[in-house]
Amino acid sequence: MTTNKVIIDLGAVRHNFRQIKTLAGAGVVAVVKSDAYGHGMIPVAQTLEPEGPTYFGVFELEEAMELKASGCGVPILIMMGILAEQVSAVVDNGFTVALFQKAIARRISDAAQQRQTVVPVHIKVDTGMTRLGVTWADLPDFLQYVLPLKGIHLKGMFSHFAVSDEPDLAFTNKQRERFLWAVNESDKLNISFDDLHVSNSGAILTKKGLDFGLVRPGIALYGSSPAKMPSKNISLKRAMSFKSRIVQLRSVPADTPVSYGCTYNTKSSSTIATIPVGYDDGYNRLLSNNGEVLVRGTRVPVVGRVCMNLTMLDVSSVEGVSVGDEAVLLGAQGKEEITAEEIAEKIGTINYEIYCSIGKSNLRSYLYPAE
Ligand SMILES: Cc1ncc(COP(=O)(O)O)c(C=O)c1O
Repeated sequence: MTTNKVIIDLGAVRHNFRQIKTLAGAGVVAVVKSDAYGHGMIPVAQTLEPEGPTYFGVFELEEAMELKASGCGVPILIMMGILAEQVSAVVDNGFTVALFQKAIARRISDAAQQRQTVVPVHIKVDTGMTRLGVTWADLPDFLQYVLPLKGIHLKGMFSHFAVSDEPDLAFTNKQRERFLWAVNESDKLNISFDDLHVSNSGAILTKKGLDFGLVRPGIALYGSSPAKMPSKNISLKRAMSFKSRIVQLRSVPADTPVSYGCTYNTKSSSTIATIPVGYDDGYNRLLSNNGEVLVRGTRVPVVGRVCMNLTMLDVSSVEGVSVGDEAVLLGAQGKEEITAEEIAEKIGTINYEIYCSIGKSNLRSYLYPAE
């Protein structure tokens, strides 16, 4: 049994899925890539499967294989696309893949024909993010190449918004227009996709997206809005908590240095608590002399540098503090709560990174929904 615990409330994940589905009024590509943003891909997928997602969205083939091996019965979309050497595995396992390269299309077609099967693909169109996909202007040429290839089913088309989490709509609107143009160009070639999807959490929560029948949320499933915007249209529940315990307490006089570099000196006589959490546990070193932790319902400051496995807190203000007390680094205790957004703000990053790094670095335990 480890002292530190990441607790994942799967009931919250299910609640968030239901809220998103209702708000969007659309089918859901539930994004479970990157180990479900640190929440655990398999338990999250097993919780959501009975809710009827249209797809699970993973990043790459290995994740798709792991998900399928767990018994997943929902179609799996590999959003990164695939490399040439991964074609056989895709054909053999019936995965749906993002497609945006002619050479890969040709290989999929050859392999599918050899095995007398058909591979469903979703064309990935880059409408302005300059990250992955066929640039929208090149789409007609790409479709004309792919269309005659046997063994490929042009099942879907998708794109990704770059700034749907920001209030200024100008660039999102530009991407939306380019996607509409791409749909129109496909129509001209008599391609009618079953699955069109562009809306990530930012677009869903602000209703800025084009739902097209499917939405593709990630962070909202885990209870958060994208970093720069609150979720006004929906009540999301944070699914992840991160808890540790106090392993040592000591009373020290004023002017006592704490931790590596002696970057903190007590201002008066103080009670310093040590918790076995460090940057190895995903607790960022930029939280040195910066973070706050909950002990007995009180916010206490991180003092000195966060070490690899240990962090010190000034608990002088906490009445009755004892060795073994719970220390909450992410989550609620009493009336207080520390959110991923708060931690992210302190260290100049986004809530996504907080969930991924804490979730992946620690043993997780799961709270299952009541029924
Ligand atoms: C292609 C794609 N779709 C959807 C998502 C989900 O985005 P969000 O977590 O902002 O909802 C991501 C996340 O990065 C993504 O890369």
